[in-house]
This record gives sequence, C-alpha cells and structure tokens, in this order.
Amino acid sequence: MCGIVGYIGERSASPLLLECLKRLEYRGYDSSGVALAIAPGNIEVTRAQGKLSSLETKIESLNGYAAAARAGIGHTRWATHGKPTELNAHPHRSHDGKIVVVHNGIFENYAELKAELADAGLQLQSDTDTECFPVLLSHLMQGGLGFTDAFRAAVARMRGIYAIACMHADDPDRVLLARSGPPLVIGAGDGEYLFASDLMPLLSHTRNIIFLDDGDLAEVTRQGVRVFNLEGEPLERPAQHIGWDAVAAELGTFDHYMQKEIFEQPEAVARALAGRLPGDGGRLTLGLPFSEEELAGLEKVRILACGTSWHAGLVGKYLIEELAQIPVEVDYASEYRYRAALPEKNTLAIAITQSGETADTLAALKQAKRRGARTLAICNVQGSQATRQAEASLLTEAGPEIGVASTKAFTTQLAVLTLLAIELADNKQTLDGQLRQELVSALRELPARLESLRLIETQMKELARELHGASNALYLGRGQLYPVALEGALKLKEISYIHAEGYPAGEMKHGPIALIDENLPVVALMPSDSHRERTLSNLQEAAARDGKLVAFVTRGDRSLDSIAYRVVEMPEVHPCLAPIFYSIPLQLFAYHVARLRGCDVDRPRNLAKSVTVE
Ligand code: M6R
Repeated sequence: MCGIVGYIGERSASPLLLECLKRLEYRGYDSSGVALAIAPGNIEVTRAQGKLSSLETKIESLNGYAAAARAGIGHTRWATHGKPTELNAHPHRSHDGKIVVVHNGIFENYAELKAELADAGLQLQSDTDTECFPVLLSHLMQGGLGFTDAFRAAVARMRGIYAIACMHADDPDRVLLARSGPPLVIGAGDGEYLFASDLMPLLSHTRNIIFLDDGDLAEVTRQGVRVFNLEGEPLERPAQHIGWDAVAAELGTFDHYMQKEIFEQPEAVARALAGRLPGDGGRLTLGLPFSEEELAGLEKVRILACGTSWHAGLVGKYLIEELAQIPVEVDYASEYRYRAALPEKNTLAIAITQSGETADTLAALKQAKRRGARTLAICNVQGSQATRQAEASLLTEAGPEIGVASTKAFTTQLAVLTLLAIELADNKQTLDGQLRQELVSALRELPARLESLRLIETQMKELARELHGASNALYLGRGQLYPVALEGALKLKEISYIHAEGYPAGEMKHGPIALIDENLPVVALMPSDSHRERTLSNLQEAAARDGKLVAFVTRGDRSLDSIAYRVVEMPEVHPCLAPIFYSIPLQLFAYHVARLRGCDVDRPRNLAKSVTVE
C-alpha cells in the first residue's frame, strides 16, 4: 500500500525523508519519490522505479544540492492506476511545475476530472489518478484562490479515498494535508513536524502524535499544526503521547522482521494479558464500558475482520460459544458491509484488526453500528481509526508488527479473545468455577510456556528443508484448530507462494481428498483433545492415499508414528489455548520454507501490510 512521509523544520529534509520511507517499506511499493523545497520558487522532485536504494542513488547524484531543503514530502507507490514506472511515481507536479502532491488511495472520479481539465486545455502526463489533483489545484489558484483555499476546493472535488500531502514552490514553508480513508499521522517535535501514513517512521523522532480523522484537512508549518474541515472551520486534534518504544521496531540480530516477531510472541502475549487477569476468583479487568446487564443480555456476537484477523475471529467463535454460550457469527468484513441490513438487536459487533485501518473492517463496523449493534475493536494500534470508531477497544499490545505476514498480532488477538470469552461467560454465569480457575491458571502460565516453543525452530527448519519444493499443501484441523489450519495455510501461501489450503479435517473426504498423492504434504493438527479420535481416522485416510502426513500431536501420542511422514510433538496444553501454541510452529515452517525458496519474507509480492482500499 502506498506510503506518505513529510518533514518541515530546521534539519536537512532529504535524509529524514529517506529514513522515514525506509520505515514504510514493509507496506509494499514498486516506486518512490521525494519533493524537496530547495529555495523559494524551487521544489526539486526526484523519483525512481524499484527499490528505495535507486531513489537514494538519484538523490546522491544531486551532489549536495538537495541538502539545503528544510521541508519536503516523500512517497512509496504501490501501483493501482498505471504501471510502476518513474513517470507514474509520486510526487506528481501541476502543469506549471509549482505544486507537488503525494497521494495514498484512489480518486474514483479522476476520469471525469481528467476530461474536465482537458477541456480547459490541461493535459495530464502520467497514467495515474493522482495527477489530476495538483493540476486542478493549480487551475483553481489561477482562478484567483490562495493556496489553502484552492486546496480545500480541490479536496472537495475528490471522490473516493485519499490521504494527500501537498506543497507549493512559492510557499515552501507550508505543507497541506487531507485525509479521507487512509491514515495520516503528524508527529510534533521541537520546532519541527514530521508526518506519515503510520506511526512507525515517527517514533524515533517524537512520541507526540496528532491523528487526523476522516474529513480532516491540516496546514503544517514550523510554528504549528492547524486542523480544519472542508468548510475551513477549525477542529481540535490534540497530540497524544504514544508509549511504544521505537527500539521495538528495530531488527536487532534477526534476519527478518517476521522471524523476530515470531520469537517475540511470549512477551507480546504477556503484554496482552498484563493487568487483565483476575486475582483469586475475582473478575477480569478489561475496562469495557458496557454494563453487566448489557453484557448479560447479549443474544449474539458478530465478528468482523479480514485475513489473519478473520481467522482469529473464527477461533473467537469457538471460545465464546464454548465458554459464554452466546451464538457467534464471523463475517468477512468485505461481505458483511454489503449484505442485507438486518437489525443487530442485543448484539455485540467486534472488529478484529491489527492495524485498525483496514478499509473493509472499518466500513463493516460502521454498518454494524448503524444496524443497532454495540461495538468493540480488538486492535493493535492505539489511536487508529478502529479504536476511535468503536464504542470500546481492547488493545492487543503486540507492539509494532513490521512483517507483512501477521504472527504476533494473531496470537495476541487470540489471547485477548480468550479473556473476552471469560468476561462474557462471567456475565452470563455459564462457566463452571473449577474450569474457569484452570483456564485462568493456564493463561497465567502461558507466556512462560510459549518460551519452550523456541526450541521447535530446529525441527521446523529441517521440515522446511525437506518440503520446500512442494507445489501444494493441505492443512487440517478440527474445532478451534480448524482456523489455525486456515491460518497455517495462509502463512505458507502468502510468503512462499506455495498453494496451500486449510480445511476442517472432517471435510477432507468431501473434495480435497482427491488432491492427495505422495507429493502432497498434509499438515495436520491433532492435540489430545475431544476431537482427537475423529481427526485420527481422517489422518489415517490421508496416509492411506500416500499423503506426506506431518502431524502435530500432544507429546507422547504414538498413534501416527507408523503412518506419518513426520510427527511433531507439542506440549500438553489447555484446549482453549491450543490455537496459540499450534500457530507458532506453522509460522516458523512457513518462514523457513519462504527463506529456502528465496522469497522476500517481510515484503511478499502484491501484498500490503495495511489494506486501506476496498
Ligand atoms: O490490519 P488487519 O488485521 O485488519 O489486516 C487484515 C489482513 O489484511 C491481514 O490480517 C492479512 O491477512 C495478514 N497480514 C496476513 O498475514
């Protein structure tokens, strides 16, 4: 997904912009560019196709000329309209060369605007939807409007979703921003301001962050930030202090962020649970604003999410239905938002989203609210759109997740969902005291017990070495481990590009069994829980068809030794927490397969970390 950065202050802007763009690399991009205000009347635009190193080389070739700039904007582009060429890279300039713009999102009415501008004799040079904006803005200024007023008028003409940053060569001490959809955050430093598409580039410079809301416009100068709406009316957007440590976003001794984030899971899960578990027999501390009566009266839970977060939602369904006995429906956010608008009476709608900025999830949450549901966000990013849109939030506290493939974001979502299931069960009084005590104790021990899974990496590396040449893979699980099978398959396909499918083990014989032959790895999750016997017969069926069975079983279970290709022994765990435990080896397996296949693990092709378009 495209990334925007910008700076205005007293330091040299070009190294700062490059540093910030590097921190946005994880979002995915295929070209990049910067605009630097070198002197009044002179904005230098440098753009490059491919990696940021190409842009860096081009900036270096300016021989220090760029170093004078104390303000500038930058962009990494993930192509939507037009090929990933230098011509289509941002920043885009107006026809008179005065205005530069970077944009994240899509202007849906760009064809109409392009035609209108052509009628006025103004031809666009690129294939992008973005270029119509600076040209329109300049056209409006030629009609007599000042920079800020013309910016407001141009933004008002735009349909679709956008985050925009814009500068004028004759007014280089001012940057104008607008947001409708994709996030834009401003870091307030000492006599300087930085802004970006997310917090990551800003954290090593300042923790005082202004979050722009949908519909906000802002004017950033060295003196301060003024936020206003399309009508020009001032808006209050006080800076919030963000607690994340930038060090948490550094790679350290790991080769990839994904690897680092897999290994961070014990601490991440510990943070997700911290301060929330009860003392002896007491209630949990989740800080939800709903009354006990409201929670006790819930008739339905509706979970809305995409991708990995949707898989977490499916685990949540098993947990909430089992513990709190409330029916749960789990929807793909992109489907729910367009389904028949049935009333959501006595319903709690839960949006699960790592980023808190996924366009479909936000739209679905809005719909659920409109249909009458109470709303809760389970989210990793404090201050994100989801946390501000929902009535209540439970932060997952995973810390920054840079790898595009979600790992610690997923397991912390599962930890928080387990807490929520207990809280709902407490309100409904559906959970036997002894069982509750066992689960709470297991949660208390969870972070320490997850540490032991570090040892499983060697085995997963070896397995990856043996199986990385496969073209397909089938993942099977039952009950709460069925969503883990889906997630394991997603991890493998998104970073190693091996086609993989997750299935409930019991469904295998209704179709996927036709795929099984001696070349197909069948990755099966079979802990010693209430589903074990049934899963065992399914796996015997797979082995009988020569499938390469890789079975994850509870330590000591020897039942598959003679028919499996490999048996991986897992610690004995509480069934509600098995999804967290069993996810980790599958993440490691996918990681090592992707490495062996030479894939770009942290930045898989075509994928974006935060999907802020529909
Ligand atoms: O930020 P979100 O959790 O809303 O993102 C939803 C999906 O795009 C995301 O979970 C995606 O599937 C994962 N990055 C895949 O590992």
